[in-house]
Amino acid sequence: MNKAKIAPSLLAADFGNLQRDVEMVNQSEADWHHIDVMDGLFVPNISYGMPVIKSIAKHATKPLDVHLMIVDPDRYIKTFADLGATILTVHYEACTHLHRTIQAIKDAGMKAGVALNPHTNVNLLKNVIKDIDLVLIMSVNPGFGGQSFIENSYEKITDAKELIKMNDSKALVEVDGGVTAKNAKALIKAGADVLVAGSFIFKSEAPLNTIKDLKTATDKWSIFEL
Ligand code: DX5
Ligand code: ZN
Repeated sequence: MNKAKIAPSLLAADFGNLQRDVEMVNQSEADWHHIDVMDGLFVPNISYGMPVIKSIAKHATKPLDVHLMIVDPDRYIKTFADLGATILTVHYEACTHLHRTIQAIKDAGMKAGVALNPHTNVNLLKNVIKDIDLVLIMSVNPGFGGQSFIENSYEKITDAKELIKMNDSKALVEVDGGVTAKNAKALIKAGADVLVAGSFIFKSEAPLNTIKDLKTATDKWSIFEL
């Protein structure tokens, strides 16, 4: 019922052992592989590009949830479709013609997501909410893993859920940044459907168990607190 999906962010993986870490996610209770693409322009950091993503895709067995933190993402829609992305999420702040971008992502055969920076109001998505499959609420300023969760994100998650309901949209709400087993339950309760977690998973001693704990934290809420 209220089972949240877990999407480990490979940004926090050990790049020297990328295949091992992708396979760990394959074997885990996680639902998606979250892939953060940064261009050093939209965000101050550069993560990884197409050759690395191609290798990830080769080993990954779960849907690829690609989060583009790049300017003018339209340039790469076809490339990401060819790489096997299941969901392609672009930033509201990076798209001048967001409606067109969303249509192009769907025309390329992928699910379309829109991410919002912490300062961006959820209601700005009103006119596209029925067209999209995912709203990504950034709960840190994008660009780096390992940052602290911004507390007013709960309100934004609830606002997004409300907007989705009011418009009869089927979009999922994904939360990205500073997610841990401590805030997981509260995030689900606020309306999150998908939790992205990077450092909390990959910097832990036993990532498989950490994913299990996250999944359990979200399950428990639906069983005991509904
Ligand atoms: C940040 C990225 C996140 C990041 C999350 O810009 O979009 O996906 O990897 O990392 P943690 O979970 O460490 O905050
Ligand atoms: Zn991300």
